[in-house]
Amino acid sequence: MKRIAILLVSVFAVGMIFSSCGGGSQPATGEKTAGTIPADIQAMMPRGEQIYKTKCVVCHQATGLGVENVFPPLANADYLLADKVRAVAQTLNGSKIEMTVNGKKYTQEMTPQVDTKEDAVAVINYVLNNFGNKGGYVTLDEAKSVEIKPRTAAPPAK
Ligand code: HEC
Repeated sequence: MKRIAILLVSVFAVGMIFSSCGGGSQPATGEKTAGTIPADIQAMMPRGEQIYKTKCVVCHQATGLGVENVFPPLANADYLLADKVRAVAQTLNGSKIEMTVNGKKYTQEMTPQVDTKEDAVAVINYVLNNFGNKGGYVTLDEAKSVEIKPRTAAPPAK
């Protein structure tokens, strides 16, 4: 009798485990949260990763943590997460301002890093979903107001 009770309990427990798996799909609310990244954004991630690993990694590091007071972090960076369109613009046109990121000051210049808005959006989406970030995503449409400023220096070598 005792054995049957144990058996019943374990069958119940296994059932619970199975029903909790895969049952987590929630209806799309249109809200931009991690885990609900649209397919077109997902599709640009490999490109974003490639850009990050060839260009950004030198300064922002493989960890996305940057170098304190020199190159700002992109991992859990309050500044980045506060304005994703600004991040796209900075990646595209560079940035030369004084900024405070996670309580530290940064004053060095970042030159323009990519030539197209598509590349800037792709790499920012990669950043937003790596290095522990759960910052959602930014669309090309949201970044449509971003202008590509004329390059003052010679364009970066391809
Ligand atoms: C040569 C070094 C260097 C490279 C390469 C570089 N950055 Fe930066 N990045 C900086 C510096 C320095 C700043 C701070 C600029 C300022 O103070 O105006 C910065 C700032 C930023 C910011 C805003 C600050 C923040 O923490 O959110 C973003 C976003 C950013 N970079 C993204 C990128 C991306 C994406 C790439 C690759 C496509 C890249 N950077 C490549 C040096 C670099």
